[in-house]
Amino acid sequence: MDYALTIHRLQFAFTITFHYIFPQLTMGLALLLVVLKTIALRTGNERYDQAARFWAKIFGINFALGVVTGIPMEFQFGTNWARCSKAAGGVIGQTLAMEGMFSFFLESTFLGLFLFGEKRLGPVWHWVSSIAVFAGAWLSGYFIIATDAWMQYPVGHTVDANGSIQLSSIGALLTNPWILWQYSHNMIASVATASFVMSAVGAFYLLTGRSMKFGEIFVRLGVISGIAAAFLLAMPTGDQQARMVATHQPVAFAAMEGLFHTEQGASLVLIGQPDVEKMRLDNPIAVPRLLSFLTYQRWAAEVKGLDEFPRENWPDNIPLLYFSYHIMVGLGTIQLAIMGIATVLLFLKRLVKTKAMLWTLMLAFPIPYIATTAGWITAEVGRQPWLIYGLLRTADGTSAQVGSGSTMFTLMGFMGLYLLLGLLFVFMIWRELEHGPEEAT
Ligand code: HEM
Repeated sequence: MDYALTIHRLQFAFTITFHYIFPQLTMGLALLLVVLKTIALRTGNERYDQAARFWAKIFGINFALGVVTGIPMEFQFGTNWARCSKAAGGVIGQTLAMEGMFSFFLESTFLGLFLFGEKRLGPVWHWVSSIAVFAGAWLSGYFIIATDAWMQYPVGHTVDANGSIQLSSIGALLTNPWILWQYSHNMIASVATASFVMSAVGAFYLLTGRSMKFGEIFVRLGVISGIAAAFLLAMPTGDQQARMVATHQPVAFAAMEGLFHTEQGASLVLIGQPDVEKMRLDNPIAVPRLLSFLTYQRWAAEVKGLDEFPRENWPDNIPLLYFSYHIMVGLGTIQLAIMGIATVLLFLKRLVKTKAMLWTLMLAFPIPYIATTAGWITAEVGRQPWLIYGLLRTADGTSAQVGSGSTMFTLMGFMGLYLLLGLLFVFMIWRELEHGPEEAT
C-alpha cells in the first residue's frame, strides 16, 4: 500500500479512536442522568439530585475533551482527505453540518443550564434540561452514524459524469436502512460504557468505605442498565448488524468470521488465527454449522467465503478485522457474564456485601471501552478497500498534495498533545472522584 495513504489512515485512526473515548461515555451518561433526575423529581430524595450533580461534572469534563478532540477531525476531511471531500462533500457535509448546527448546540446550551442553572431553573425545568442534554447527545450520535452509515451503504445519491457524488434525497440519507441497527448497537454500547463506569465508581466508594449511600445508588443503577445494555448488544442489535453485513458486505463478513472458503453448514469460529497466505485458520475451535444458522436461520445454508470474491475487493487487513470482531464479541460475552452475576446478587440483596463482585465491577470498566473500539475497527476496516462502499476507494480519497512526511509530523504532534490532554483528563477525573458526591452540593 502507498506509504502516504497508510500514514493518512493511521492519523485518522489515532485521532478518532482517542476522540471516541469521550462521547461514548457522555452519550450513555446522558441517559443515566435523566434516570437520576427523574427519580429525584418523583421521590423528592435530595440524594439523587446530588448524585446527578456529581455525574454532571464527570459529564462536563468528558464533553469538553470530546469537543476539543472532535474539531481536528472535521479539518482532517479537508487536509488529509481532500479528494473524498471534493467527491462526496455534498452528501456527508449535510449530516456533519446538521450535527454541528442542531444537536451540538442543543446539547452544549442545555448542558450549560444543567450544570450552572439548577437554582434558577427549579426542579422541573432542571429535569427538562437533563432531557434536552440527552436529546442533543443522542441526536449528535444519529447524525454521525447517518454519515458513517452512508459510507457503509450509500443511498439517495447520483454520480455526475466527472465522478462527483450529489445528494438526491435528504430523506433517504436520514432514513438509510443501515442506520437502524448501527445506531441502536452503537448507542447501546455507549450505555454499556456509562453503566460499567457508574458501577465501577460505586464499587470504588463501597470498597473504600466512603460515600456508601452513593456507592449503593451507583452500583445498583449501573448494574441494572448494564445488564440491559449487555443483553441488547448481543440480541437483537449485534445479531441484526451481522446479518446486514452478511447481506450487503459479504466479503467483509467472510473476513470477520475467518471464512476463507465458501461452505454449506458453515461453522462459527470461536478461536483461531487467520493465515491469509495459506487461506486457512490455524488452531480453530469452532461450533459446527452455527454460523449458517445464525446468519440465515438454516443449519445447512451456504455462507460465502473469501475465495468467492476478487482479491482486490478483500479488506486489506484481514487479521486486524478478524481479531477486532472476535475481541468485541468475546468481551460482549464477558460483559454479559459479569452483569448477569451482579444482577443475581442484586436481586438476592447481596451485591453491596460481596467484595469479590465489587472488585470485579471496579476493575471491569475498561471492557466496554475496548469492545467499542474493537467494534469501530471492525466496521471501518471491514469497509476497506472502500472509503464509500462501492463508490470511492480509500486510495482515491486522500489529499494528493500532502506527503507522508507532513502527515507523520502532524501525527506525532497529535500524539504528544493528546498524551498531555489524557493526563489532564485523568487528573481532573481523579479530583472529582476524590471530592466525591457529598461535597458536590
Ligand atoms: C455480543 C455480541 C456482539 C455482536 C454479535 C456484535 C456485532 C457487531 C457487528 C456485526 C458490527 C458491525 C461491523 C461492521 O459494520 O462491519 C458491530 C459493530 C460495533 N460494535 Fe458490536 N457486537 C457485539 C458486542 C459489542 C459490544 C459488547 C460492544 C461495546 C460495548 C460493541 C460495540 C460496537 C461498536 C461501537 C461498533 C461500531 C459501530 C457499529 O457499526 O455499530 N459490540 N458489532
